[in-house]
Amino acid sequence: MKLQSRHLLGLEGVPEQDITLILDTAASFKEVLERPIKKVPPLQGKTIVNLFFESSTRTRISFELAERRLSADVVNFTAQGSSVSKGETLKDTARNIEAMKIDMVVVRHAASGAPHFLTHVVKANVINAGDGAHEHPTQALLDMMTLREKFGKLEGLRVCIVGDITHSRVARSNIYGLMTMGAKVSVCGPATLIPKNIEELGVRVYHNLEKVVTEVDALNVLRIQLERQKSGLFPSLREYRRFFGVTKEKVDRAPKPITIMHPGPINRDVELSADLADGPHSVILEQVTNGEAVRMAVLYLLGTSN
Ligand code: CP
Repeated sequence: MKLQSRHLLGLEGVPEQDITLILDTAASFKEVLERPIKKVPPLQGKTIVNLFFESSTRTRISFELAERRLSADVVNFTAQGSSVSKGETLKDTARNIEAMKIDMVVVRHAASGAPHFLTHVVKANVINAGDGAHEHPTQALLDMMTLREKFGKLEGLRVCIVGDITHSRVARSNIYGLMTMGAKVSVCGPATLIPKNIEELGVRVYHNLEKVVTEVDALNVLRIQLERQKSGLFPSLREYRRFFGVTKEKVDRAPKPITIMHPGPINRDVELSADLADGPHSVILEQVTNGEAVRMAVLYLLGTSN
């Protein structure tokens, strides 16, 4: 079985059978992660570069672990300390690295479209590890894997994404992926942080978190990007927390327990209360574990289909 594309740039337009193939493959790799020796040979002889032009903890580490567990050779690049600080362009950086015989590129960049641009300048498979406010496909895949494990299926599942939807690549990828898989997706946040016309994607919009908790199975809580406050998109963190902060007091009004997700990093007691983040219905650390399995699946499927 093969994926339709030789790159993973986003989940927009990715068909259901490809998402299912990735999630099923990730479930097999998760079993490898339970073994005493967590290493398998399929990417032996392949060289992968992780190009990170933006900070990352979870995505960077889990891609590197996934690559090493598949026996690939790994090169890590961070913009800091590289020739990017001397003005070298993304195109030149990528082409110079490819001249060192690279097979796959994992890229995180502040510019939306940077991974797509790279597909035109290098021959390697390109995987988007987060580009601007555009997409973060492996995050949405690990979120879907976590939901599928918890609920057994995605079809019909009611998932609300809470927070700054406008500036979130995680939200965008989750919306595309979950809609394709037949979930019922909603978003909740201040009107200033929800894109106009988002309903056209089939997504329901809420501005009242108390109402949302009575109608969903899972909440995927987004990090509030603290810099947005300066641009006047919400009055204060206190105000944001009061209306859109996910707290025990609010979710306790739900008729049944709600699964709590967060892509990280968390602003504890701002968008999500610490007791919920660490509570019995939180799957935040399962998301991180599944991130490694999902990234192994994507690397394996793209790296063995050339
Ligand atoms: N969720 C996520 O992308 O986290 P990092 O920024 O730490 O990679």
